[in-house]
Amino acid sequence: MASVLKIDNLSISFGGLKAVDNLSFEIEDKMIYGLIGPNGAGKTTVFNCITKFYTPNQGSVKFKTIEDKVVELMDYKVHEIVNLGLVRTFQNVELIKDLSIIDNLLIGAHSQYKSTVIAQAFMLKKARNEEKLMREKAMNILKDLGLEDKAEEIAGSQPYGVLKNVELARTLMSDPKLIIIDEPAAGLNETETEALAIMIRKIRDTYHCAILMVEHDMGLVMNTCERICAINFGKKLAEGTPDEIKKNKDVQEAYLGKEDDIA
Ligand SMILES: Nc1ncnc2c1ncn2[C@@H]1O[C@H](COP(=O)(O)OP(=O)(O)OP(=O)(O)O)[C@@H](O)[C@H]1O
Ligand SMILES: [Mg+2]
Repeated sequence: MASVLKIDNLSISFGGLKAVDNLSFEIEDKMIYGLIGPNGAGKTTVFNCITKFYTPNQGSVKFKTIEDKVVELMDYKVHEIVNLGLVRTFQNVELIKDLSIIDNLLIGAHSQYKSTVIAQAFMLKKARNEEKLMREKAMNILKDLGLEDKAEEIAGSQPYGVLKNVELARTLMSDPKLIIIDEPAAGLNETETEALAIMIRKIRDTYHCAILMVEHDMGLVMNTCERICAINFGKKLAEGTPDEIKKNKDVQEAYLGKEDDIA
């Protein structure tokens, strides 16, 4: 499989409502891919199906793991997904406010510790070494992303824009092949959004992972994504390059009255 993620005929209904309706799309390795659509189009529901928060009624989601093995995500449970190399961020920042930035990254690495919980509790030599390695890894990630000055700062004391970047940094602790991010620019001002675009590209270029992004800020989507899938009422409207999507009549219609947003 040349792609890292391949979704085929995905469908899920809530009562009578088809939130995702026979949707298929594919993300190539190391690609920055956008999923767009008006409010309620089904974007977050697609994410929830991929990461197994929801169980779809129908469809297949194939994923190429860290070991280059193609697996069917429908066969896995929600907590197993991260170990395959797929990690997500949520619509709201999910960090522990009382902990330092670096400790927030270390919490994210939990699934990677090889020593047992008992060894960790007593801080046996093996666990101590592991802790040291993880701390080094976290510090390297913060350095790569220009966040090393923030390592010891308490998360709660930092501006929202920094926390958004820290959330992205934390995903890298699990060596992801694909990071999926839901509305990263929500709540950010223009300067912070521009910094975020640079950060997203830097993450892909440094860590060679693919990124799937849901975002309403069309500037960010069009400048950052290499391919885009537009959906409405759970169905695919169009798929293509940013230019193709901008020119697509069905997409323009779905954003009716908001042509300026998409143009
Ligand atoms: N757990 C649920 N139970 C019932 N309906 C749901 C559930 N989750 C989502 N829906 C419905 O499915 C549809 C798609 O919702 P979803 O949250 O995926 O949209 P979205 O594209 O992410 O929208 P937004 O841009 O506003 O975040 C909506 O009509 C929503 O009300
Ligand atoms: Mg959503």
